[in-house]
Amino acid sequence: MEHVVLNNGVKMPLLGFGVYQIPKEDCERCVLDAISIGYRLIDTAQSYFNEEAVGRAIEKCGIPREELFVTTKVWIDNYGYDMTRASVLESMRKLRTDYLDLILLHQPFSDYYGAYHALEDLYKEGKVRAIGVSNFYPDRLSDIAAFNEIVPQVNQVETNPLNQQIFAQENMVKNGVQIEAWAPFGEGRNGIFENPVLKEIALKHNKSVAQVILRWLIQRKVVALAKSIHRERIQQNFEVFDFELSVEDMETIRTLDTGKSLFFSHQEASTVDLFVELIKKRRDLM
Ligand SMILES: NC(=O)c1ccc[n+]([C@@H]2O[C@H](COP(=O)([O-])OP(=O)(O)OC[C@H]3O[C@@H](n4cnc5c(N)ncnc54)[C@H](OP(=O)(O)O)[C@@H]3O)[C@@H](O)[C@H]2O)c1
Repeated sequence: MEHVVLNNGVKMPLLGFGVYQIPKEDCERCVLDAISIGYRLIDTAQSYFNEEAVGRAIEKCGIPREELFVTTKVWIDNYGYDMTRASVLESMRKLRTDYLDLILLHQPFSDYYGAYHALEDLYKEGKVRAIGVSNFYPDRLSDIAAFNEIVPQVNQVETNPLNQQIFAQENMVKNGVQIEAWAPFGEGRNGIFENPVLKEIALKHNKSVAQVILRWLIQRKVVALAKSIHRERIQQNFEVFDFELSVEDMETIRTLDTGKSLFFSHQEASTVDLFVELIKKRRDLM
């Protein structure tokens, strides 16, 4: 496994296993499969409702805790200093761990400053090894990096061949923040697995489109999170360290960028409305 080194010296694997939309009943098995295949970075969130299943897998997997890299994210409804602190300690209980490798603020809305101050204190107390944010675009990322004591170590944003985040990554590099990709496959949207440009490159390397996408991210030094509920795909997505995309391949993939999200823009007012609704729905499930 290759690693990146965060701005505080912590080593983070370049490839991880994400558990968004993995049903509670499948999650423990999927995480155990992923760890047995070789994944060490596991990415969950309070709002995925599967932290307990991830915790059971962490406990059962037989890999020493210090060899794993466990990330979770604070949901918006838990923002504000006191709520964030309590919710992170609760996440640690569910994950059956006495420390987290990385804790992120899931979304750039509501009282993310109060929430971030709680993460800073948890970091200083040694309860989390790294802190960061998710879905913070250049304006808010620069803001949170400039006006806090600790510069975030990581910013997790949608990154895939159709939405490459070139400028966002440049801005993160400038601020010393590591980029991490969610939805590297765009959750299969916009025919990404059938994209003729990606298929041709995949054919040339005798790899799948999914493997080409993960390799492209790794070569850009973007930490990639792949999710699958199928063991053979979890395995396939891990086999990306035995080939290399050429400069020409990288340039060809560069031409696929639309600069637009496949989901929604975090910078639109309508997205705030969407999250207000989502908070209400998830509150009923929490
Ligand atoms: N911070 C955030 O706001 C945020 C948002 C979304 C996601 N995330 C994180 O990022 C992780 C990855 O993103 P994601 O789960 O949204 O989407 P994704 O990884 O882009 O796509 C997952 C989809 O691709 C399919 N797939 C996986 N490997 C494949 C392969 N080799 N061949 C064909 N299809 C394949 C999966 O199907 P099967 O499962 O049926 O195999 C699933 O439908 C999440 O699990 C989560 O940890 C974070």
